[in-house]
Amino acid sequence: MITPIQGFSKLTKAEKINWLADNYTHNPKRTKELLKIYWNNDEELQKLHDEFIENTITNYYLPLGIAPNFLINNKLYAIPMAIEESSVVAAASKAAKFWLSRGGFKTTVLGTEKVGQVHFIYKGDEKKLNNFFSSIKPLLFSESNPLTVNMKKRGGGITNIELRNKTSDLENYYQLHCTFETLDAMGANFINSCLEQFAKTLKKEALLYSDFSETEKNIEVVMSILSNYAPNCIVRAEVSCKVEELNEDPNISSNELAHKLVQAVTIAKIEPYRAVTHNKGIMNGIDAVILATGNDFRAVEAGIHAYASKNGRYTSLTNACIEGDVFKFWLEIPLALGTVGGLTNLHPLVKTALDILQKPSAKELMQIVAVAGLAQNFAALRSLVTTGIQEGHMKMHLLNILNQLGANEEEKKQLTEHFKTHTVSHRSVTSAYESLKND
Ligand code: MEV
Repeated sequence: MITPIQGFSKLTKAEKINWLADNYTHNPKRTKELLKIYWNNDEELQKLHDEFIENTITNYYLPLGIAPNFLINNKLYAIPMAIEESSVVAAASKAAKFWLSRGGFKTTVLGTEKVGQVHFIYKGDEKKLNNFFSSIKPLLFSESNPLTVNMKKRGGGITNIELRNKTSDLENYYQLHCTFETLDAMGANFINSCLEQFAKTLKKEALLYSDFSETEKNIEVVMSILSNYAPNCIVRAEVSCKVEELNEDPNISSNELAHKLVQAVTIAKIEPYRAVTHNKGIMNGIDAVILATGNDFRAVEAGIHAYASKNGRYTSLTNACIEGDVFKFWLEIPLALGTVGGLTNLHPLVKTALDILQKPSAKELMQIVAVAGLAQNFAALRSLVTTGIQEGHMKMHLLNILNQLGANEEEKKQLTEHFKTHTVSHRSVTSAYESLKND
């Protein structure tokens, strides 16, 4: 029987692995070897990775791929993507190439406002709270000066602090709803530090406010935290071309393809089951760039999906239409990103990814990421409404299956040739591999 362990975090990495493998795995010897194979020989580099999180035992690799030929606002980019799913990088590259000869992608940042809130309980007269808030508002700014001085020097800082009455949703619940400009930083630390200072000022000043009764003086701060919902930190990415330029496929006319693409987007607009998968495809592109550039994909995911439901129903993030003889395809999404601070200064591959992207500002990175999402959706929809997704997908998947089966380079070469004219499925690949082995 496995018993709980005390002081796991104090064990060395090797001791952690030994305990884990001995207590939880079926083949402790192999587990111990395997976990150590993934350690980096460069001790300094390994130490850096060990210290990113707690209780590190080894490294977990994801492939880093490149989708070249992205023309964005007339500038060419090769986009780094960290992702485990086959076809995604190929699809992005294909879409990039397609739009390269049709004017490329156009992008605009529509806003960069970040949000944070102090959630608190106030039991008393609302008018008095309003007056109190007006009287302490300058103090909320000035007492956070030590935290904001550097950000202000660079042109950012706190942009507004608002008192919001939420008592119709929850008894006695109010907020300081605060907005920030954090420039090239994602800003989570900056925002959270400011909010915690606002909370201190709020509580301290309430105790001194003579118009408040004893109960009113006792403001209870529940929590102070940034919001990952950033509906005013928005980027737009778009492509367009003449309908007649849309197609490269002899099996479908340009006109039919344009209409099918619009229909596919319309279905994702009105049908949440489809919208989720449609948007998942967009996130294939977005998350891969977010990960490669050391940003927080959970924050981005949460914010984008909330935005997709902002009108009360989960819907497509992309839009498509035909205007006259022009096909237009675009998306608008919230993206709170950073190109300085956090992992961007620490992880050597993140630094390299940002270097490949020509050291973008946070605004430029927003545009690149949005384009990766739009390109991914275009590629997915084009396959879905023509050949279907499996054809391309399974060809890419072939290599994964062959790797799982342990095929050597020569076998992979022969089987890749064979499957140029045969349908890929797990069973067909296994059986072709076995026949080849038995030949
Ligand atoms: C697969 O990872 C993504 C797709 O399902 C997206 C879509 O259906 O639009 C192909």
